[in-house]
Amino acid sequence: MYNLLKGKRGIIFGALNSSSIAWKVAEKAHEEGAIFTLTNTPVAMRFGEINELAANCNNAEIIPADATNIDDLENLISKSMEVLGGKLDFILHSIGMSLNVRKGRTYDDLDYNYFMKTLDISSLSFHKVIQVARKMDAMNEWGSIVALSYIAAQRTLYGYNDMADAKAILESIARSFGYIYGRDKKVRINTISQSPTRTTAGSGVKGIDGLIDFTDRMSPLGNADAAECADFCIVLFSDLSRKITMQNIYHDGGFSSMGMSYKAMNQYNKSFDNPDEILKD
Ligand SMILES: NC(=O)c1ccc[n+]([C@@H]2O[C@H](COP(=O)([O-])OP(=O)(O)OC[C@H]3O[C@@H](n4cnc5c(N)ncnc54)[C@H](O)[C@@H]3O)[C@@H](O)[C@H]2O)c1
Repeated sequence: MYNLLKGKRGIIFGALNSSSIAWKVAEKAHEEGAIFTLTNTPVAMRFGEINELAANCNNAEIIPADATNIDDLENLISKSMEVLGGKLDFILHSIGMSLNVRKGRTYDDLDYNYFMKTLDISSLSFHKVIQVARKMDAMNEWGSIVALSYIAAQRTLYGYNDMADAKAILESIARSFGYIYGRDKKVRINTISQSPTRTTAGSGVKGIDGLIDFTDRMSPLGNADAAECADFCIVLFSDLSRKITMQNIYHDGGFSSMGMSYKAMNQYNKSFDNPDEILKD
């Protein structure tokens, strides 16, 4: 505990269960002295697990909101300022969902209604949260807004599907709005590009186990887990990162800079004993 967020107020989107990255962020933000509200869709809250998190975080208020709905966001932000007693210092956007992925539609056979939903939920919601917060003048100067991204925004990874496009837009929104909000109110906006992580959303990615094994072998520091991602979110919310904005920062153990590692090469070479294996897919 360093009291890095002492006196800071925030909103945390996306804590579904104890595996969620947002769940770990909430626990750490509480440890570091922040007060915040928790939010998710009414459907996600039906499972009730968020109550347990709220109880462990000084009885944090839970305010339901669909992040694609402007009325919900206005209500969330005004209620949050009311219960927390002032303007906000940080917002975590930890939201992603693709119906194409869920329903097994491949990238060359997308359902376009689902695709629009993917973009609305996983990218435009980030713009909506920021736009509503700015219009309501809800952020303090030097406040920090963070969303979670994935390297599929830059590189093609088998099976990541339309979420790759969603993440590319998400990162672009951080740059475009980061300029405007930084210029006007000194509010920072960044995305963190996280290693593949076993969460509910993560488990929906095709071949997640193989992917986690591959990126772990490829990364000199190994994959970053959800708790480590939460640590980095705290740094970005804190005053120790005041001049970082409009960035997409890789939090991936070095994976994004690698081409081939000894560990991955070793694993790959095993398949030479079986040429049929190499030709597959
Ligand atoms: N798990 C991974 O491998 C990984 C890697 C990189 C980035 N990310 C990103 O991290 C973020 C959090 O995902 P997670 O892995 O913790 O999984 P998760 O399933 O725990 O969290 C996703 C959250 O999005 C919420 N959500 C969905 N639709 C919503 C809506 N309309 N309004 C508000 N909330 C909504 C869900 O209820 C859930 O709480 C996502 O943006 C995800 O893409 C995950």
